[in-house]
Amino acid sequence: MKLTTILLTLGLGLTTAPSTVVLAAPAPESNYYQQANTPDIVDMFVNANYYGDKYTGSAYEGQCVNLPPNFNDNLSSGRARPGYHCTVWPDANCRTNKWNFTFDDRGSGARFPDWINDRASSWRG
Ligand SMILES: *[C@@H]1O[C@H](CO)[C@@H](O)[C@H](O)[C@H]1NC(C)=O
Ligand SMILES: *[C@@H]1O[C@H](CO)[C@@H](O)[C@H](O)[C@H]1NC(C)=O
Repeated sequence: MKLTTILLTLGLGLTTAPSTVVLAAPAPESNYYQQANTPDIVDMFVNANYYGDKYTGSAYEGQCVNLPPNFNDNLSSGRARPGYHCTVWPDANCRTNKWNFTFDDRGSGARFPDWINDRASSWRG
């Protein structure tokens, strides 16, 4: 709900019902937005060997993150931040299947295998 809509609703509510106005809790954020107070776990790139536009993934360890539209099905390499590893899935929501690719901070993600090159949709650190 946009702020203007909330204000309009509030205004109408106050003129018609003087009882306490209860604001609905904000909708949960889509999980591909950068979250506050979470560590940067991984950098992924649109080209192999860490070239091209970079996506930096920030999340709690173990939390599944869906990639934003401009990086979904658009990543070719990745490097975990020191001490982390990262797994990518071809489906959203880290859906369990036999197809996933895990890389570390030491070069194992320099070139995503063909089956997930330009196909990663979610990741987990
Ligand atoms: C994939 O990444 C390239 C380079 O950043 C960008 O130009 C392109 O728009 C992206 N594709 C999509 C579908 O967003
Ligand atoms: C990841 O892939 C392995 C095989 O490489 C499979 O055994 C495992 O179940 C997969 N895990 C998930 C969460 O998809």
